[in-house]
Amino acid sequence: MNKKNILNEYKKKIKEYKRFSEAYYVESNPIINDSEFDKIKQNLIELEKKYHFLNDKASPSNAVGYKPSKNFNKIPHRAPMLSLANAFSEEDLENFEKKIKNYLNKKDDFKIEYSAEPKIDGISASLIFKNGKFIKGLSRGDGKEGEDITENLRTIKDIPHSITNDNFPREIDIRGEVFIQNNDFKKINNKFANPRNAASGSLRQKDPKETKKIPLKFIAYTYGYESGMNIDNQNDFLKYLHIWGFKTNPYNKIIHGTKNLMRNYKEIEKKRDEINLDIDGIVYKVNDFKLQKRLGYVANAPRWAVAHKFSANSGTSKIINIEIQIGRTGALTPVAKIKPINIGGVVVSNATLHNEEEILRKDIRIDDIALIERAGDVIPHVISVDLKQRGKDSKKFEFPKKCPSCGAKTIKDFNTITKKEDAVRRCSSEGYECEKVAIEKIKHFVSKEAFNIEGLGKKIVENFWNLNLIKLPQDIFKLDFNKIENLEGWGKQSIINLKYSINLRKNISFERFIYALGIRHIGLENAKLIAKNLKSIKNFL
Ligand code: IVH
Repeated sequence: MNKKNILNEYKKKIKEYKRFSEAYYVESNPIINDSEFDKIKQNLIELEKKYHFLNDKASPSNAVGYKPSKNFNKIPHRAPMLSLANAFSEEDLENFEKKIKNYLNKKDDFKIEYSAEPKIDGISASLIFKNGKFIKGLSRGDGKEGEDITENLRTIKDIPHSITNDNFPREIDIRGEVFIQNNDFKKINNKFANPRNAASGSLRQKDPKETKKIPLKFIAYTYGYESGMNIDNQNDFLKYLHIWGFKTNPYNKIIHGTKNLMRNYKEIEKKRDEINLDIDGIVYKVNDFKLQKRLGYVANAPRWAVAHKFSANSGTSKIINIEIQIGRTGALTPVAKIKPINIGGVVVSNATLHNEEEILRKDIRIDDIALIERAGDVIPHVISVDLKQRGKDSKKFEFPKKCPSCGAKTIKDFNTITKKEDAVRRCSSEGYECEKVAIEKIKHFVSKEAFNIEGLGKKIVENFWNLNLIKLPQDIFKLDFNKIENLEGWGKQSIINLKYSINLRKNISFERFIYALGIRHIGLENAKLIAKNLKSIKNFL
């Protein structure tokens, strides 16, 4: 497919996605079910990853929800309403905690205290209070600006209009979830498929009198902008919310360590049917506000919180082969090639095995029958293998001690903080010595958040590398276009386009440049910090 066809195909999908989003977020009356909707989102994101020239304001990679509806005034949030990263397994939780400890430079035995709160599947709202008065209420919108739904929110009995406690902050945005209890949903005979859609629909009625007819509830759980707040941790904040007159979730708990988080998760998942409101997981937040501040944010989610989602989809299939992929940092990632199976409506033929340690720990072998999980938008992964179904002549999987691409020794780093070997094995070559690493580094160099060179997609980078046109990032700026012109699939216009997009990036921001180098541990946020502190390339060098 040429660029024009890909673009047309993409635009068509975006249009379709916009229609479904509007039905979901604005009309609260989805045309398709949640998993189909997720599939369409994922498909668009994958297309954008593959073809870097694809981008659209309405793409799910740019927007958290849907742009506010025209029925209501749009108002910017004083602090953005962010989303949460997802966790689906105990392992995800361990990684979440590990990252926190590494980030805070803490040893393994450091105990982190969490506020564990059921994740209510409703509609989030931000309530602006000034001098104890509820003055405005906004929907989440796209996370940056929301709709002014003040009058509709005023009809909800759980929302206090005036708070007189001495310790109530001068100014604060109280945030929480608007929802309908399951028993109330059964009583109201209406056109909505589930309580979430019904809550969303009634909250967006043009006429607040219509909203008032529906028994909406509000549970508070966090804050946005604040001034004059003197509280040290989430647990105290939740207690104060109660004192100030808000409803909080009776199942909120303080928990230490991932083992106990798991125990609580299982308990609540069992009780899910008894609870009178829809919950779709548990949110864990680092309890201490000082630690939260230190941890800060990545992209549009906090580093100090995660949503542990309920009931993932899974299925069993045979592992046909274990392949090793090499990333730009030299990390060797094993991938299980499995006999294709349909999990929750998606055909799965690859499942990540994460790293060497994981294969050893779970003793995963070729020809094993494995339990595969696919949850949300994450890459499917192998949960376990069935030892009972293993053949007599099955052999342990030998992880390559030499890089399959360049033959260099593979090594595991020693982490001086945790005093443990890394779980990841890497190719020990340096810089651009290893072919696979070099190609991946160049792909990263031109990617959206780095040099953002449109028209230099992954396949083209690989192709140019094989043709000796690009061996190092700097080669991009002295490409031999005469040679490219003679390649199949390249015409005059595509050459003009490529030249144009390369020229466009001869000047880029310092932070993008640092990020583009692909130094291990230097992601977007760190690149920003370094750029801000060093100020110039001269200092950087
Ligand atoms: S905290 C930056 N706490 O989950 C963290 N969110 O994907 C902000 N939610 O938009 C959210 N229960 O609608 C938080 N106890 C809880 C929650 C909760 C439900 C929803 C909320 C948010 C979404 C995040």
